Amino acid sequence: MPEPFESPPTGLPAEAARPRRRVGVLISGSGSNCMALIAAARAADYPAEIALVVSNRPDAPGLAKAAAAGVATLAIDHKPFGKDREAHERAIQAALEAAGVQFVALAGYMRVFTPWFIGKWSGRMINIHPSLLPAFPGLHPHQQALDAGVTEAGCSVHWVTEGVDQGAVIGRAVVPVLPGDDEASLAARVLAEEHRLYPACLAKAVKTSSAR
Ligand code: GRF
Repeated sequence: MPEPFESPPTGLPAEAARPRRRVGVLISGSGSNCMALIAAARAADYPAEIALVVSNRPDAPGLAKAAAAGVATLAIDHKPFGKDREAHERAIQAALEAAGVQFVALAGYMRVFTPWFIGKWSGRMINIHPSLLPAFPGLHPHQQALDAGVTEAGCSVHWVTEGVDQGAVIGRAVVPVLPGDDEASLAARVLAEEHRLYPACLAKAVKTSSAR
């Protein structure tokens, strides 16, 4: 079950709820969390709308799913940019601005951002990570949890800062680690909770984020 929300990062101006903040979702893969956000945003009283879904992988299944749900999508392949990560991010930034995006939700986006992009979205960008942060940041969090022998695992939604998976936590959901679990079974149990947690945390975050 989701735990109570923690406070937003300090320094962000409190702000009255703004209905229908325009959100850009960045993905790299299956997009199940993206679809959970799209589904939540169908509710008239949800404080955000999904204005654009962007993938750095043109073949990401989540792109087709989002398009089938009637959401604008865009593939911005990172490969033609080679090692120039900022140039790729500038292309993404231009697309987000053209779509009038005001807030970014990362949902399985598998690239680390430069300080330039982080700075553009400071206080307006969140991520979901499948561990109980601050435990097990980075790659293979489920295997990290199994290797550590913990009895509880879960997922966290957090503000994005320069340190990977280091930003202040907005909310977490806990699941048990069961005897016989492997990486796949634990990931599936956590993912089901991600789909509940992320829409709730996005709603909370857009209400507390700075208005730019
Ligand atoms: C999720 O487990 C998310 O927490 C992690 O990557 C996975 C993406 O899954 N960052 P999906 O693309 O949302 O199905």
